[in-house]
Amino acid sequence: MKKNIKISIGLAAAGLLTLLGLLLIELQTREASVRPFQEVAIGGAFSLTNEKGEARSEADFAGAPMLIYFGFTYCPDVCPMSLDVMGAALETLEAQNPKLFAALQPVFISVDPLRDTPEQLSEYLSYFHPKISGLTGTPEQIAMVKKAFRVYAVRRDLPEETAQDKGSYNVDHSSFFYLMDGKGRYLAHFDHGLEAQILAQKIAAKLR
Ligand code: NI
Repeated sequence: MKKNIKISIGLAAAGLLTLLGLLLIELQTREASVRPFQEVAIGGAFSLTNEKGEARSEADFAGAPMLIYFGFTYCPDVCPMSLDVMGAALETLEAQNPKLFAALQPVFISVDPLRDTPEQLSEYLSYFHPKISGLTGTPEQIAMVKKAFRVYAVRRDLPEETAQDKGSYNVDHSSFFYLMDGKGRYLAHFDHGLEAQILAQKIAAKLR
């Protein structure tokens, strides 16, 4: 009798454990299937102006992946370095993955709408890879796109003696490359300090 009770308790415990296990697996698979685009809410609709002065929204970029970098043309060091890395990564992709290179839309979005006019963007981008286009807008439009992409960018006034021809203020800003898919959905972000080859590899891996 005692033995039977032990066995049935044992069986009940085993049954309970199996049930718990199944429940956990069910929860995990459910989470995995829901997670990709709901948890990371980066990106969204925008209404901006390109370096040619033409209105551009997210719909104009639909159908092909975007590689986005936020910065400003008066930036003394980080932006030029990042755009150089972006350009070199584009050259790597062009050599190793010409189809992906042809599809990819590299874009520089200004976080300094007061100084970065379309003309200013056009002049600035002429120093970088010709495939990189620029977007700017009104302060309200830029505030909206910054918010959508969780971009940190704050104006810092410079002392008069250091201002010189670079303008009277700097903009502290986060510095990432954002990779978005052809539907404008966030895929990944990469640090601006990556080597160009590595950046190209990571982009290709995400878009495979
Ligand atoms: Ni910068």
